[in-house]
Amino acid sequence: MCGIVGILGNGPVASQVVDSLKRLEYRGYDSAGIATLEGGHLTRRRAEGKLRNLQARLAEEPLQGHIGIGHTRWATHGRPSEYNAHPHATDRVAVVHNGIIENFRSLREELMGQGVNFQSDTDTEVVAHLVTREMRRGLAPRDAVAAALKCLHGAFALGFIFEGEENLLIGARRGAPLAIGYGEGEMYLGSDALALAPFTDTIAYLEDGDWVVMTRTGATFYDENDREVVRQRQKTQAGAFLVDKGNHRHFMAKEIHEQPEVIGRTLAHYLDMSAGKVSLPFDLPFDFKAIRKLSISACGTAFLAGLTAKYWFERLARLPVEIDVASEFRYREMPLDAGDLTMVISQSGETADTLASLRYAKDCGQKILSVVNVPTSTIARESDVVALTLAGPEIGVASTKAFTCQLSVLAALAIAAGVARGTISAEQEQALVSELMHVPGLVAEALKHEHDIEGIAKELSKAKDVLYLGRGTSYPLALEGALKLKEISYIHAEGYAAGELKHGPIALIEETLPVIVIAPRDHWFEKTVSNVQEVAARGGQLLMIGPAGIAHEAGIHNAQSIVMPDMAPTFSAIVYSAPIQLLAYYTAMVMGKDVDQPRNLAKSVTVE
Ligand code: M6R
Repeated sequence: MCGIVGILGNGPVASQVVDSLKRLEYRGYDSAGIATLEGGHLTRRRAEGKLRNLQARLAEEPLQGHIGIGHTRWATHGRPSEYNAHPHATDRVAVVHNGIIENFRSLREELMGQGVNFQSDTDTEVVAHLVTREMRRGLAPRDAVAAALKCLHGAFALGFIFEGEENLLIGARRGAPLAIGYGEGEMYLGSDALALAPFTDTIAYLEDGDWVVMTRTGATFYDENDREVVRQRQKTQAGAFLVDKGNHRHFMAKEIHEQPEVIGRTLAHYLDMSAGKVSLPFDLPFDFKAIRKLSISACGTAFLAGLTAKYWFERLARLPVEIDVASEFRYREMPLDAGDLTMVISQSGETADTLASLRYAKDCGQKILSVVNVPTSTIARESDVVALTLAGPEIGVASTKAFTCQLSVLAALAIAAGVARGTISAEQEQALVSELMHVPGLVAEALKHEHDIEGIAKELSKAKDVLYLGRGTSYPLALEGALKLKEISYIHAEGYAAGELKHGPIALIEETLPVIVIAPRDHWFEKTVSNVQEVAARGGQLLMIGPAGIAHEAGIHNAQSIVMPDMAPTFSAIVYSAPIQLLAYYTAMVMGKDVDQPRNLAKSVTVE
């Protein structure tokens, strides 16, 4: 995750850009950089490491331009260094970027074939060259950006300035957040409202797929189909910026929509995307090869992330996994062999039962690996090694982005275990890493069904009971769907392994019972489809979440469906979480429930 800023000012903007970057340094500090127009010419200053290095550079070589873009970097493609620092530029355009350009490799090859010389290892640089190519073909900057955007896959936000264009700043958003700010004859662009707080409290947020053309007198917004659209201005409260809901009604909605970005950020921490390999940011105090059994303990949604990971560790690394909810794990007195590994998973890092499981396993002589979101938490402090989820603060009581970030970390760890144990080859590792790199973009695509899901939720809100079904990694997701729905809408919901249906729950099926089937095109797809037919034959109200044509393939004509993007199956649980969360969110919202603070619950459960 990186931070980006853009300013169209009335005087020299370099110090304003730096002020703004200070507020974004929490997003990354591997390097920082700024580009302005000096006498109409694109000029950059960049420095490796923290922002203070860039400030020192600017003190020696000041910039006077009245327009500028700035960047603080969390390295994804290419090591932290000055030559990989943003802005990336050609003689026509400079660009800052947050997120991942998934297809950068093929674009880079195409551009190199056309004679382009690359100056960095980043995915970002392809964007500068694509825009330049379109400008050399005669397009104006605005049209060149529009054309270049159509070539890009992934989840990202971008900011551009152009050689000789003193009054033009362009921004684009797909998956990653971007806000613009209105000043007195000045305009601003930033990764969040916090970045713009020193200059203005009048903000408009780009919606997913939007791009914006800014001059000192205003901004024109376009949607993903290049149609001009209106995005409302709103006043923000400077003091509330750190816990701001953005343009969402609830923290839960904001956190659901942050997922493409925070998953991307988390994955970037664990993968070397340029090399297509897993690259853990810590040394392991154990050898995966020597581990005979992995025990996992967690509560609630974190437990369901662990249950999903069981499938990955067993299949990819052939490592047997024992998993239990922490409140049982801690009291079962199960024998744990010294030298084996226990993994605990917790957003807060303070959950009492999970902490007690950690201590029990430690007393048995096990190594402890924790997957936590709060680095200073007790669980983190008591672990041998901490795998952080970089989800940022999760305020909504219902866990959303923490869950998908936990899954992302666990997926990377399962691949690492597979490599260490020799159960996956280098080619398989590359293929799996490439599957993971597509996940942020696929989540962004899945979130586009929000409007349809809101409609479906109106119907669902009338139900008394709801059944969720799934097989393989969609089984834990069925449990998570039911948990999400019951905790915020208070509708009774149950999740079942689809194959278990006929062993009892099928007795519940009648016309008034909604049955939600999670069916990605995976190893179990055909079998799940058979279970769908069993429900249909008994008159159940079906909602299918799966690839295009799923209802048709199942031969069912009166089912509703949420069509998911095509994807490789291994990590579908991360992408399919999006509709599950939105369904619960909108159902609770339609019912007028307190979505962010549901009754009887707490964000951090420090009692047993
Ligand atoms: O902070 P933790 O991840 O340890 O919390 C565990 C559970 O309390 C938590 O996941 C809970 O189930 C959420 N309300 C689910 O949305």
